[in-house]
Amino acid sequence: MTSAEPAVSPEFGVSSAERLTLVRGRGARLWDPSGRSYVDLGATHGVGNLGESPPEVVSAIATQAHELLYLGSGYANPVRTAFLERLLSLLPSSFGSVFLSNSGTEAVEAALKVARSATGRSKVVAAMRGFHGRTLGALSATWRREFREPFEPLVPGFVHVPFNDAAALEAAVDEKTALVLIEPVQGEGGIHVASEEFLRAARSATARTGSLLAFDEVQCGLGRTGRLFAFERWGVVPDLLLLAKSLAGGIPIGATVVAREVVPRFRGSHHSTFGGNPLACAAGLAALDLLVRERLPERAERLGVLGLERLKNLPSESVREVRGLGLMIGVEFRNRVAPILSALEARGFLAISAGSTVMRLLPPLVITDEEWESGLRAITEVVAGG
Ligand SMILES: Cc1ncc(COP(=O)(O)O)c(C=O)c1O
Repeated sequence: MTSAEPAVSPEFGVSSAERLTLVRGRGARLWDPSGRSYVDLGATHGVGNLGESPPEVVSAIATQAHELLYLGSGYANPVRTAFLERLLSLLPSSFGSVFLSNSGTEAVEAALKVARSATGRSKVVAAMRGFHGRTLGALSATWRREFREPFEPLVPGFVHVPFNDAAALEAAVDEKTALVLIEPVQGEGGIHVASEEFLRAARSATARTGSLLAFDEVQCGLGRTGRLFAFERWGVVPDLLLLAKSLAGGIPIGATVVAREVVPRFRGSHHSTFGGNPLACAAGLAALDLLVRERLPERAERLGVLGLERLKNLPSESVREVRGLGLMIGVEFRNRVAPILSALEARGFLAISAGSTVMRLLPPLVITDEEWESGLRAITEVVAGG
């Protein structure tokens, strides 16, 4: 390298600032190369609902890898069929079909295309503080300015209404609207839980205008909020349900679940080379089995209630608000959260931020009672200490 060349990281988009190196994980524990262990309170960004490297998922992946790694969607495969049937069996019967992809943002892109095609319209109503991914369509639905601005102009036709403002939502949804896209619990935006009134308004406004309703449960789905799917909390069933992150226990997958009634209205085609590959489907099947068999949503509910209760007792001089549902908890501080996260890391606990002032807790749902208790204690001590 000559002195004129800037230093760049081989990992594109990642600053060369010091980062913790982690090499191994099991359950809610992660290890650095020296063998020091950390408790994961959010390090897996919601991918690790079942913990790191769940043995059942690992063995399903190994078996499938020996059998058939890849197959195009032009051919049927029993593992793919079994996974899709299992996923649909866990959902209300109004859902009939699933488009499989490889990430959350792709699940959102598919929803945008399904909605445009099925309605013949292009307007999308999303919520302020919402996060839906970073490809251009999904980014257009994402709210935060710093994510959007460098890439503008984005896709036209996206409108954002204040989260939980039912009247604003009702006013924004009209005969030009193809889709209303909402996270029932906003994750990246700082852990904000939807009100029943807001979700019901979204359902009635879309029904009134002939537009579709999508719930983005990429982060809040699959047990995290104390229900298998977050929408079960409110009993408001969308037309499109978007899943990803922990759906295949830690390997890439995205799913756009489509209501039966919408499927025949879709014109055109949508496809992904790797979407629905047998490896991801085998992992997904094992992951869903584990989630249900171990009753992990109930565990998330119990540990979440305990966590919220404890965190609500944090000193109010430094904490503005504590909010959440199940094991999806945000602690909003009056000042920047970065020093708190560093202090926690030094004590062996890994939490993440949502914006500059919110600590986001997304522990694996398999976190033991002792690990969760030690995490809550460490947070309390760090916050009390300054
Ligand atoms: C609610 C939500 N939607 C979509 C996405 C995008 O998912 P991915 O990063 O897998 O593309 C995320 C990622 O954090 C998310 O939290």
